[in-house]
Amino acid sequence: MLCIGHRGAMGHEPENTLLSIAKALELGVDAVEIDVHNVEDRLVVIHDRDLSRTTNGTGYLENYSFAYLRTLDAGKGQQIPTLVEVLNAVDRQAIVNIELKGNNTAKLAADTILKYIDLGWSYSDFLVSSFNHYELNQIKTIEPKIETGILFYGLPWKYTKIAHELGANIVISNLDYVDANLVATVHQENLQAWAYTVNKPQDISKMRELGVDGIFTNYPDIFNDHQPI
Ligand code: G3P
Ligand code: MG
Repeated sequence: MLCIGHRGAMGHEPENTLLSIAKALELGVDAVEIDVHNVEDRLVVIHDRDLSRTTNGTGYLENYSFAYLRTLDAGKGQQIPTLVEVLNAVDRQAIVNIELKGNNTAKLAADTILKYIDLGWSYSDFLVSSFNHYELNQIKTIEPKIETGILFYGLPWKYTKIAHELGANIVISNLDYVDANLVATVHQENLQAWAYTVNKPQDISKMRELGVDGIFTNYPDIFNDHQPI
């Protein structure tokens, strides 16, 4: 079972900052998950469209320039990072799971990934995921070799069919919907089952028992401490 650091290691450091990424890497994650939005045709790493929860700013991202957003404190004096800064920080030590938030993110993400492929990175260094299945489809249209994970909160009817239609390899579900039936269905369809967000030791054990392939956690250290029973 893979350990994916959620927004870096947000249980330990301010989410989606370079400090959080560094902590996730220190804790030995297999992948680092970050959320990206498009600001002036640049991908910035932040979860909410509204700035107020994670920064000292207020209001919506789209009302500000990239330059202004970079003046904000995203916690412990950290700037809101760019996708490029995160990729350079990870430097192939773990998979980078880029979760596309909002619209008009797929092309920028794909272009960035392809630039890094040109620099010698592998397709297996990246995973793109989204609840926005239109953006996810665009990734595959641009470059089918980029791996994608389809995010669900709750399971739509025929969700594996949707996953296949979008060319996604991984079904990523909220923890509450992950059970033996989901795992069996997903595996029968030659897909992987990943669960978010798994922060309690008993839930980590349960996911292992169910044969889940990957979990997102705020506390990668708990994952490490909690080996198979
Ligand atoms: O990708 C897993 C998880 O990050 C999805 O939900 O809201 O934390 O981005 P959210
Ligand atoms: Mg996310």
